[in-house]
Amino acid sequence: MYDLNQNFSRFPGGYLFAAVRQKKEEFQRSHPDADVISLGIGDVTKPLCPVVMKALEDAAAEMGDAATFRGYGPYEGYAFLREAIARVDFQQYGVKILPDEIFVGDGAKSDLAGITDLFSDRNRIAICEPTYPAYADSNVVGGRCGYFDEHTGRWTSVMYLDCTEDNGFVPEVPGMGASSPDIIYLCFPNNPTGVMITRSALQRWVNYALEKGAVILYDAAYNAFIETPDAPHTIYECAGAEQCAIELRSFSKTAGFTGMRLSYMVIPEALRCGGASLRNMWKRRLGARYNGAPYIIQRAGAAVYTPEGQKQTAQQVAEYKQNTKRIRAELEAMGYTAYGGTDAPYVWMKLPAGMKSWDFFDLLLTKAGVVGTPGVGFGADGEGFFRFTGFGTPERTEEALARIAKL
Ligand code: MLT
Repeated sequence: MYDLNQNFSRFPGGYLFAAVRQKKEEFQRSHPDADVISLGIGDVTKPLCPVVMKALEDAAAEMGDAATFRGYGPYEGYAFLREAIARVDFQQYGVKILPDEIFVGDGAKSDLAGITDLFSDRNRIAICEPTYPAYADSNVVGGRCGYFDEHTGRWTSVMYLDCTEDNGFVPEVPGMGASSPDIIYLCFPNNPTGVMITRSALQRWVNYALEKGAVILYDAAYNAFIETPDAPHTIYECAGAEQCAIELRSFSKTAGFTGMRLSYMVIPEALRCGGASLRNMWKRRLGARYNGAPYIIQRAGAAVYTPEGQKQTAQQVAEYKQNTKRIRAELEAMGYTAYGGTDAPYVWMKLPAGMKSWDFFDLLLTKAGVVGTPGVGFGADGEGFFRFTGFGTPERTEEALARIAKL
């Protein structure tokens, strides 16, 4: 009899957003007339912007013509897209990232899971808490998390970096002892708390990784939402980051590609472990496991980097941010303490003392018909908090806030 990956049996339950969706669907089945508003998963509601649609249609037409049809593309992504990314996302911030250091993928979640193939199961991972659940989940499959302790709500082999109100939800660098981490996950602007890190705090993490010989997996999926002046737009603005960091980006929130699937990772040439180049390892891994993102989606992605594409996507982001700011302002006016919402599409609301986040989820769903995300779903430190997203429409967001105010 064949043998299964026993790590799957270590998951204590389903994936957070699948659980949220299931609860919402169960409620809708038992209350078919209920008008439920979803401010839970960070899924966009605006259609693709015109310049992206045009590129998609043109590329689809190319695929239907023998003269322009494309079959397998380059594993690492088409040069037209990687060159545009290098120019717009990095050179404008004075950062030199070469197209050869950019690898196009089909979503940051897939990239985050895929990159773990490069690391042995002996590495110790560090994750912020609260955090996006996919970081730990992908390492559970790879056997790097140990066991889930029901009492602490934590994985036994993972180092947790506490992100609390006291530290402004920005973790402190740990000590250099034997239990210090080898792989460090950071996400800024942060999901779920919505806060941004300062340049000097990020530099401290880079210095730590360089000294310790650790690698940072820097998730910058919400980069387009940054508005704090002088905030770092890429980890490579920090000195030495090219020797210790991989940066992950997504088109999902920047350009509304949640249903299209497009992302990229930067793996700098200078990033080495001993003599081994992580960039070359990833190239080899792509050859073994991936045939590249679809041509038409990459063409649509390249349209985002045209001047018109930059303008149109920035407009969409600005409109989502208006929702987020409104959510925070109105929650505060209702007397709640709330964080985030300035540099990210998320507002992190503190619940009344003693209230559990799944209890608040149920209350909100059943009494107000509004779905959010329970803080504990992002880790034990998230208990007592609740996340709202600004990706709804302005009208539905306003309606949800009016219902919450009546609760
Ligand atoms: C979130 O809501 O945290 C994200 O949208 C989930 C994701 O990107 O997979």
